[in-house]
This record gives sequence, C-alpha cells and structure tokens, in this order.
Amino acid sequence: MGHFTAGREAYARHVGRYGGALSAAHADAAGLAAGDRALDVGCGPGGLLAELARRLGAAQVAGVDPTEPFVGTARAAVPAADVRRGSAERLPFDAGAFDVVLSQLVVNFMDDAEAGVAEMRRVARRAVTSCVWDYAGEMTMLRGFWDAALELDPDAPDEGRTMRFCTPRELAALWETAGLREVRTDALVVEAGYADFEDYWSPFLSGLGPSGAYCASLGDDARAALRDACLARLGSPSGPFTLSARAWFVRGAV
Ligand SMILES: C[S@@+](CC[C@H](N)C(=O)[O-])C[C@H]1O[C@@H](n2cnc3c(N)ncnc32)[C@H](O)[C@@H]1O
Repeated sequence: MGHFTAGREAYARHVGRYGGALSAAHADAAGLAAGDRALDVGCGPGGLLAELARRLGAAQVAGVDPTEPFVGTARAAVPAADVRRGSAERLPFDAGAFDVVLSQLVVNFMDDAEAGVAEMRRVARRAVTSCVWDYAGEMTMLRGFWDAALELDPDAPDEGRTMRFCTPRELAALWETAGLREVRTDALVVEAGYADFEDYWSPFLSGLGPSGAYCASLGDDARAALRDACLARLGSPSGPFTLSARAWFVRGAV
C-alpha cells in the first residue's frame, strides 16, 4: 500500500480535492437515517468519516483502514469515532454492528474484493454502499493524465484498464455475488477547482496513487513530455479552471 502513504497534504491536492463533494454525494445516496450507526471501510484520511459524523454524530460512526498513517489522520479528523486498523477482508467488528456500511474509492484496491464485500455485508444490518471513480470515462483529472501518458507510452498502466469494479455492471455483479439484494447503481458527479495548471500537475509528482507512482518511475525527459501532453489535453489553461469527476455508486440491501 506504499503508494497511499505520501501524506495528507499531497492526497488532499490529488484525488482528495474531490473528496469533500464526493463524500457529501455518497452520504446523500446511501439512504442514512437519524440514529444510524455507520462504518466507513477504507476510510483513508477520514473525509467520508467526517461527513458521516456531521450527519449522524461522531459517536455513531466508525472507520477502518489498513494504512497506518491514514488511521492516525482519520482519528484526528473525528476523535470521537471508533477508528481501527484493519482490512475489509477481515473486518474487526461484530456481525450486524452497523446499520449502513460504506466504502469510498476502495473496492478496486482490495486484494480480495469478493471477500471484502462479503465482510461488509456481515457487519451491516440494512445496506452496503460504495463508489469507484469512472477511470475509463468521466473522471477527468485522471483520464486526462492517462490519455496523455498513453500518447507517449502505449504501455502506460492506465487505471481505466487496470482497475476492476469501475463500471456499474461490475459493481452490481460484485454486490450480487455478496448476496446483497435490490442492488442499484447511479452516477455521482462532482467538481473541483484548480488555481492553474501547476496546481493540477504538482500533486502527480508526490508519487501518490498509481498515477503518481507512474510519474515517479519516469526519467526527467519523459516526465517533462508527460507534463506538456497533460497541459495540451487540458487546453493549455493560463489561469483557474474546473474539472468534473464521475464516480459510479452502488447500493445493496442486506
Ligand atoms: C483512494 S483511497 C480512498 C480513501 C477514502 N475512502 C476516501 O474516499 O478518501 C483508498 C483507501 O483504501 C484503503 N485500502 C486499500 N486496501 C484495502 C483493503 N483491503 N481494505 C480496506 N481498505 C483498503 C487504502 O489504505 C486507502 O486508504
């Protein structure tokens, strides 16, 4: 999980820039009710956890993540929440401990997603939800990066090809395999603003996520060529701009 550990600030400026809006859209779609207990699986630095705490109360929410620095950051974000270190595949919680179990941008990173979603179902009483970026389509920030990379290197590890569970069909099948019922999918579309192109480009240099790891693997010349190709793909903006990002959402009843 090394590519997730570059730190909170870098994460916040990379895909984390969309996190606040995505967490709100995910919480809206999840079908929460007052008094619910909710678990955020793969909570990362705790953006969705904080959104759930605002809606349900911090004592009603819990989070779990295998990456140690994120566990600490999530605990600091929501001190009254029960944040534990662990993996989806072996959740350290009792059966039926939560009304709703959510995971945001995580099932595509699980070692064994079938086991992870089965565990999410085990600890849920009412519903299990998730969302995954539309890597192959309208997650514009990453799509632009990988399209630029493919232009220069046809073997670039495009997340639109390497990621599993980033289509509504695959997500629905994963949920049905776990025995969840009334499975439905939807699009969550959010936006984020950039001050300028450097604001877009510099987070890729932090090594964070598969895109950052790819950037870090390049020599100076190849990285400079990739930067130019990304700039061209974005229409060579000279000032602030906004990008939209689509994630596919899935919800199933227990
Ligand atoms: C892209 S981040 C998303 C973090 C957070 N959910 C968010 O929306 O900002 C992916 C997260 O999944 C976690 N993760 C990876 N494999 C996991 C697994 N098997 N079980 C639970 N979490 C996992 C990582 O540690 C990381 O925090």
